[in-house]
Amino acid sequence: MRIDVLTLFPGMFGGFLNESILYRAREIGKIEVNLLNFRDYSKNKHKKVDDYPFGGGAGMVLTVQPVVDALRSIPGHEKALKILMSPQGKTLNQALSYDLSKHEHLIILCGHYEGFDERIRAYFDMELSIGDYVLTGGELAAMVVIDAVTRLIPGVLNKEESHENDSFNGFLLDYPQYTRPREFEGKKVPEVLLSGHHEKIMQWRKEKQIEKTKLVRPNLYEKYMNQHKAEK
Ligand code: ADE
Repeated sequence: MRIDVLTLFPGMFGGFLNESILYRAREIGKIEVNLLNFRDYSKNKHKKVDDYPFGGGAGMVLTVQPVVDALRSIPGHEKALKILMSPQGKTLNQALSYDLSKHEHLIILCGHYEGFDERIRAYFDMELSIGDYVLTGGELAAMVVIDAVTRLIPGVLNKEESHENDSFNGFLLDYPQYTRPREFEGKKVPEVLLSGHHEKIMQWRKEKQIEKTKLVRPNLYEKYMNQHKAEK
């Protein structure tokens, strides 16, 4: 997958792209990430990319020209899925991450300042939020999207890191995991996990998943129950 990120702060992506699974995914050619500073495309003599809002009001607004010119400089931009990061967008979830992971080319615009000139929206296919809170810019949100999507691309994770048992696959949160030692400060690993009885372990894990989901994410639990009913 090719990912082009339009950002005023490409430096923010350095650590993220150069560590751990993102680094490896780039090394083995599963993803190629290009960072474009759209300030470089500004036709303003001071390389300005923002201006005062027509009609007045607080803050600055991103101008159309640098964004559109940066977008058009990307080879294959016509066919790419063009995503605009903003708190007003559709909220990212696991199902949407799967959909995005099937695309060959994503272009992601990170906003800054008070907002975008509304006309920028016409050049993008979708507006995406990572949750109901406002960040200082779209960069962290874009990294969240890139991370969630990259790990779903076939061949990025190895068997031990597999995403098949991820929370949200099938609407349930993860079951509790334990590793050595068997006891730490009086806290013991549940007996069933030491039993070697595969079926009992599977059953226990499912029960724990349901218990936890019902407790902390009642809306997900409801979805799980409805899916269950539909399957019966
Ligand atoms: N930019 C600022 N806040 C954001 C959010 N919650 N999601 C996506 N982009 C953003």
